[in-house]
Amino acid sequence: MRRLDQLLANLGYCSRREARAWIQAGRVTVRGKVEDDFGAKAGPADVQVDGAPLDHPTGLLLLLHKPVGLACSHDAREGPNVYGLLPPRWRERNPPVTSIGRLDKDTSGLLLLTDQSELVHRLTSPRHKVPKVYRATVGADLPAELIPLFASGTLLLKDEKAPCAPADLKIISPREAELTLTEGRYHQVRRMFASQGHEVLALLRAKFGHFELGDLPAGRWRELPLDAFNSNS
Ligand code: URA
Repeated sequence: MRRLDQLLANLGYCSRREARAWIQAGRVTVRGKVEDDFGAKAGPADVQVDGAPLDHPTGLLLLLHKPVGLACSHDAREGPNVYGLLPPRWRERNPPVTSIGRLDKDTSGLLLLTDQSELVHRLTSPRHKVPKVYRATVGADLPAELIPLFASGTLLLKDEKAPCAPADLKIISPREAELTLTEGRYHQVRRMFASQGHEVLALLRAKFGHFELGDLPAGRWRELPLDAFNSNS
């Protein structure tokens, strides 16, 4: 149960002050009856605004096809970000919608977004070892020796003390590969290839856990059930 004014403000409808005015104006009902006391408490599923149920009152989990050129940070100094793709109301939610892990500005592909901080912690924790599949295009032909090296669990990246966890590399064509990681270090795919003299020219994340990007167009998202990661990930 939450206060009505807080509920509306936290779901991004308006400021708390505006919520109080909306409630006093009779725009909000609880179980079908107008409730004009903004301090009244109600369960989100019982509340309607202007006759419509609340917008995702229990949380959001989205699978976005991140286009190249957008940052995953909320910090405006890093330029345009993925949150600008979402409806304005979702951008105003509190707790805020954030990405589960990050992709570089120059990387495209599958990015999960949620307002569930527990999910962010669980899926980004190295202990959880969620497999992530990346498709990389590199600047020169890839030698087959990279496969056992990346799988060995001994590859040490510059300025790091612990070697990369074993990673599965599939060479798809001379300059294209699919790399599956179970960790998420800073610029990890680019740095793993760079450590062997290969520049990554294009990078796309195709899978995260059991979710696939499929043919979702860049810039579009689809909603996932909030319990999508309760099993099988
Ligand atoms: N590895 C990278 O180098 N960049 C990403 O965005 C993700 C993984």
